[in-house]
This record gives sequence, C-alpha cells and structure tokens, in this order.
Amino acid sequence: MKKPVRVAVTGGAGQISYSLVFAIASGQLLGPDQPIILQLLEMPVAMEALKGVAMELDDCAFPLLHGIVTTDDVKTAFTDIEYALLVGAKPRGPGMERNDLLRDNGKIFTTQGKALNDYANRNVKVLVVGNPANTNAYIAMRSAPDLNPKNFTAMTRLDHNRALSQLSAKTGTKVTDIKKMVIWGNHSSTQYPDITNTTVAGKAAKSLVDQNWIANDFIPTVQQRGAAIIKARGKSSAASAANAAVDHIHDWALGSNGEWVSMAVPSDGSYGIPEGLIYSFPITTANGEYSIVQGLEIDEFSRDRLTKTQNELEEERSAIADLLG
Ligand code: NAI
Repeated sequence: MKKPVRVAVTGGAGQISYSLVFAIASGQLLGPDQPIILQLLEMPVAMEALKGVAMELDDCAFPLLHGIVTTDDVKTAFTDIEYALLVGAKPRGPGMERNDLLRDNGKIFTTQGKALNDYANRNVKVLVVGNPANTNAYIAMRSAPDLNPKNFTAMTRLDHNRALSQLSAKTGTKVTDIKKMVIWGNHSSTQYPDITNTTVAGKAAKSLVDQNWIANDFIPTVQQRGAAIIKARGKSSAASAANAAVDHIHDWALGSNGEWVSMAVPSDGSYGIPEGLIYSFPITTANGEYSIVQGLEIDEFSRDRLTKTQNELEEERSAIADLLG
C-alpha cells in the first residue's frame, strides 16, 4: 500500500464539497491504490456543519480514507499537503459590485497563498475552484513566491465538459468520440469554447455543424450554462463542479493519455497571452506535469474571442494589483 497523501479542501461544508470530498475519499481523485488524508478548512461559523460532513465520511467506511482533519486554521489545513482544492470563496451578495467581490476574495487568496508557501509540500498541486477562479489563482500564486508558479491552476474543466456534452448532443455521438475540445481564457461568460481543431469520431467537428450554430448556439450555451442551472435548480451547479474538479486533478496527477483537456494555468506567453496571466489553454498532461498544446492556428474569429477574455482577465488583475504589495 502506498503512503497516504494529504489533500486539502477549503469550503468543506459548502455545496460543491458535499459531492467533492466523497469522490476524493472513494478513490476517484488519485486512483484505487492511493490512501488519502483529507484536511478540510472552513470558516468558524461553519465548523459544526463541517463536523457533520466528517461524520458522514466516517460512515462511508472508505478503505482509502486514512484520516480526516477538520479545522478553521489555515496552517493546520495546509501543512504537508500535496493537493489543494480551493473551493471556499465569498459569494456575491446583494448589491455587491464586481470589484468588491474581486477584492474580498483577493484577501482570502492572499492569506491562503501565503499559507501554501509556508506549510504545503513543495510540489503541491493547487486547483482554484472558488470564483473569480482565474484571478483568485493568480493572487494565490503571487502570494507564494517560494513555490513554482506552475503549481497554481484554476478550473475551466466544467466548461470543457459542458462543451463536450453540447457537441455530443448536437452530433448524436458519445462524449468519448469527441477529441481536442478547448476552452480558452477566463472561467466567466467571456470564455471561448473553441471547436476549430475538434474531431468527432475522427471527422472535423466543423464539417458536421454550421458556423451559425457554433456562434449563436454552442458558444453562448456553454458560456451561460452556469446561469441556466441557477435558474432551473435555484442553486448553482455543485455536483458537476465537483466532478470537474476531480477530472482536473486526476488528469494532472495521473496523465491525460494524449487527450486534450482545458486547464487555466499561468501563461508562458503561448498564443500571445501575457506571461503570468492565469488563462485557460488546451493542455496535455503526463508524469504529473502539464503542457500547453503548441502550434495551433488562430483565425480572426478565434483571435477576437481570445483577446476579449484576455482583456477581462487583465482588468481583474488591475483591480486587485494593490493587494499584492
Ligand atoms: P457554498 O457557498 O455552498 O460553499 C462555500 C463554502 O466556503 C462555505 O461553506 C463557506 O463557509 C466556505 N468559505 C468561505 N470562505 C472561506 C475561507 N476563507 N476559508 C474556508 N472556507 C471558506 O458555495 P459552492 O456552491 O460550494 O461554490 C464554491 C465556489 O465555487 C463559489 O465561489 C462558486 O462560484 C465556485 N464555482 C466555480 C466553478 C468553476 O467552474 N470554476 C463552478 C461552480 C462553482
């Protein structure tokens, strides 16, 4: 049996975590032979609810779950962790401006970035789910100068999975028939779901659907899917977000077997995206490392959309710049 790895989840008593922590403990995150110690962080007001989640984890008698830590102290939560799933964030309240949301979350992710810097394993893989996810990941990365910036990522896998599902329904194929889907940019309504290089059962996706459907149906449906779910369910997407978080870390840790996935990662300047911006790219993963897929042609339609979502991320970065000192 392998040595247990410590996995931190913040917002442990929230909606997403109520699916996520059970999936992690069951072995879906890191495979059936990897024991796990869960380190769950919450706000002091939610500690009683977190205790209830831990009781239910106990009651699942998961063979791979070798320990549960519940805490409202960030040092306790992040000590020696190899994976950090940063889900907890401040939701947008009534009348709250977008910049207030960015700045309130900025404070959380400055603290958590510093704690990762000081207490986590040096190879910790960080996934930010809490919104605004890309900019929160940027803040955490900048607050952790001793860690490799490449260890900080944000989640666009839910958008990626949503795009797969839409294209599969449109073409009457299985999601597994679809290869080379891409989400570019910010996890927000400016994201660009791109099927320029996508294939469906070996055929170019663009030969199976028309441009009108891509521009006026597919792209807006994927961009607005979160809002559509809130409208239908009365609550935001939680189970599908948890599922995507598991997909993201699973593939990063264990490899994507040559398949393209979407991850928001610090730009290395690829495709003209400014270095350091946490931007979603087409990615392949192997041996615990990710690489941005290189050499794709970007036509004018795509470039307009890549730039729009880049501009939004640069505005977000400006709004929190002073928090980084
Ligand atoms: P929720 O409100 O049900 O749970 C969030 C939990 O985080 C709460 O229990 C809260 O007490 C806790 N929390 C807040 N600040 C914290 C801190 N500083 N430290 C530790 N815990 C803290 O929200 P839900 O539905 O679980 O969503 C969580 C976040 O994920 C939200 O920001 C949401 O917008 C985002 N999200 C991101 C998606 C993505 O694709 N990137 C998809 C869906 C949701």
